[in-house]
Amino acid sequence: MPSERPGGTEMKLSQILFTQGFGSRRECAALITAGRVQWAGRTLENADEDLPTDGLVFSVEGVDWAFQASALLMLHKPAGVECSRQPRHHPGVLSLLPLPLQHRGVQPVGRLDEDTTGLLLLTDDGALIHRLTSPKWHVPKVYEVGVKHPLDEAQLQALRDGVVLHDDPAPVRAAACEATGELTLRLTLTDGRYHQVKRMLAAVGNRVETLHRSGFGSASLDAALAPGQWRWLRDDEQAALRAGLR
Ligand code: URA
Repeated sequence: MPSERPGGTEMKLSQILFTQGFGSRRECAALITAGRVQWAGRTLENADEDLPTDGLVFSVEGVDWAFQASALLMLHKPAGVECSRQPRHHPGVLSLLPLPLQHRGVQPVGRLDEDTTGLLLLTDDGALIHRLTSPKWHVPKVYEVGVKHPLDEAQLQALRDGVVLHDDPAPVRAAACEATGELTLRLTLTDGRYHQVKRMLAAVGNRVETLHRSGFGSASLDAALAPGQWRWLRDDEQAALRAGLR
């Protein structure tokens, strides 16, 4: 159990490794006794040693890890990976993450199609996933869309006014929609139906050729992330994302 001390929270080394996804308690203890864990320039051999978790960076087998009480990260999803829990035709998106993140139960916040690229948030906080994906909170998602046929104002206006998809008589509308070129548009949606962008463009007589998500809530895809790369959300990004849910 973590304990409070004047300088912040402390936790036993074995518990730190366990919560950060380094395996069962037995496996974490084995890493420590094998001398595979370092902190502040020394090898840690006592599984019961208390360490301050605030700002803690330790290394396991030579790889640095920043302690994260809850995991929240962004991934630049490449095409050709599936977001489903049991991927069938392509590798799963979780295979792009280091094993400790997979072990601690990180899951995508919503799904992108196999051929969609761009910003995917992932977390091990189930309540946060629920809130970010619940229609109740209208969290905006921004998509950069490439289409087959030249766009005209009538199509854009229809997307803003609302189009009817075949599985629901209630129209779905874009919260914002602007052409960014003759064959490209930026679409902001606050709901998240199955294949929504593709079906909305089909409903106005066009066809999606490329689809890339650039924003989710207050978060924007970090331009420094190449397809397949991920990084932790910074504290300010996490706070902004959660503030949008209040
Ligand atoms: N809408 C789609 O059609 N596909 C996605 O991947 C995301 C939104």
